[in-house]
Amino acid sequence: MLFEGTERFFRPGYVANLVSSWIPALDGVEDRLRAGADVADIGCGHGSSTLLLAQAYPESRVVGFDYHEPSIEQARKRAADAGLDGRVSFEVASAASFPGEGYDLVAVFDALHDMPDPLGAARHVREALADDGVFLLVEPFAGDRLEDNLNPVGRLFYGASTVICVAHSKSGEPGTALGAQAGEARLASLLGEAGFTRVRRATETPFNLVLDARP
Ligand SMILES: C[S@@+](CC[C@H](N)C(=O)[O-])C[C@H]1O[C@@H](n2cnc3c(N)ncnc32)[C@H](O)[C@@H]1O
Repeated sequence: MLFEGTERFFRPGYVANLVSSWIPALDGVEDRLRAGADVADIGCGHGSSTLLLAQAYPESRVVGFDYHEPSIEQARKRAADAGLDGRVSFEVASAASFPGEGYDLVAVFDALHDMPDPLGAARHVREALADDGVFLLVEPFAGDRLEDNLNPVGRLFYGASTVICVAHSKSGEPGTALGAQAGEARLASLLGEAGFTRVRRATETPFNLVLDARP
């Protein structure tokens, strides 16, 4: 139920923005995806973002990873229903150890802050990327200061974060608990610690921050 609800909450934002505005906001990425790129979507859940990428860029090889097995089964079913078998694959794997290297694009959609070890995950993304690869980090929109988030969207995210995201992050080591309202400064600092040398806000919506991080 939680995983189904999560997918229903986030998917409309991906349908509305991912291909039309988020990918074009990343310098050089759209052309690479059109030509055929290796793409990984980490913490993909039911795969809505993964399937949108596979649909939009038929020359690219797209794989979704999540460590929650029932979500991966659901994502595989959706790929089959959408006729995307063979263009996209889904595998059970943790963010800290997903397989593959030399990816052109690794993306994490609304999932990094949920992870018990977001720094370990970001480090592994860095290792798995090609030297000229791109890390697309999509996180819930947040200002850097508490008072910037005292608005209807911030209140919604703080509430959900307290009972879902923080609780999940605390369930493993080291239990970083970034929370859904981590904000750009905290995320950029974590990405720097993970080995990314350039981080910028590519774009945003009222619900999402879209960060472009390069090795
Ligand atoms: C809020 S959901 C977002 C799912 C999907 N990206 C979306 O936007 O619909 C977070 C996802 O991250 C996954 N996740 C959390 N920690 C993970 C980890 N350490 N490794 C792999 N997946 C993880 C969860 O199983 C869940 O599917």
